Amino acid sequence: MTDVWSERAALYVESDAHRGGEDLDALVEWAAGARTALDVATGGGHVARRLREARMDVVTCDRAPGMHPDVICPAEHLPFESGSFDVVACRAAGHHFEDVSVAVAEMARVSGDRILLVDTMCMGDDVEEAEALRDPSHVRNYSTDEWWAFVESAGLAIAEVREFEHSFDLQAWLERTGCVGDDAARAVELLGSRVADGRLTLAKIALRAVHS
Ligand SMILES: C[S@@+](CC[C@H](N)C(=O)[O-])C[C@H]1O[C@@H](n2cnc3c(N)ncnc32)[C@H](O)[C@@H]1O
Repeated sequence: MTDVWSERAALYVESDAHRGGEDLDALVEWAAGARTALDVATGGGHVARRLREARMDVVTCDRAPGMHPDVICPAEHLPFESGSFDVVACRAAGHHFEDVSVAVAEMARVSGDRILLVDTMCMGDDVEEAEALRDPSHVRNYSTDEWWAFVESAGLAIAEVREFEHSFDLQAWLERTGCVGDDAARAVELLGSRVADGRLTLAKIALRAVHS
């Protein structure tokens, strides 16, 4: 099986869309007080880097070996004991999971105190079509209500939800997944007014959920 994520790894380390942002700042704020953390689907390792800067002991995991995580595993099956980490974080990855509800349940199981989730929000069929054209590994973005249901089904309570507008370079976003030519033109057309001055703006959701 082709591991597209490992092939793209360096681009995700450099990515302006992933290196920083209000959502990453919120995760660090919400993780305060934790000593141990798990960064699920770590990709370029940006969540782990920021949590380590905040003096936490962080373990990273990802399904793609090329992302060089501490542990190679799917988010749907985390090979850790229940309650292993004070905080479990997962950013910008849920829309790629085959079964996000199972992944959230696994994160809830291995967390001792809280889980922190950030992802792109569902913005309608046109954006979904653009995302799938740009990256065939895109499964689906979810609405606030759907995220809420994943968390509650996992037995956690929502403590806080924030929504953001996140802007980044459009061309780099297309190039990270090798989207060119007619597919790129059609994706941009579908994104409509979300594209302006060479930048793409997408809605993000961040949730802090706790064991009740
Ligand atoms: C956009 S990147 C991650 C971004 C990163 N969390 C950040 O904040 O910059 C998505 C990551 O999800 C990983 N991934 C996709 N499906 C996965 C799954 N089912 N289980 C674990 N990791 C998965 C990919 O290998 C990739 O590293």
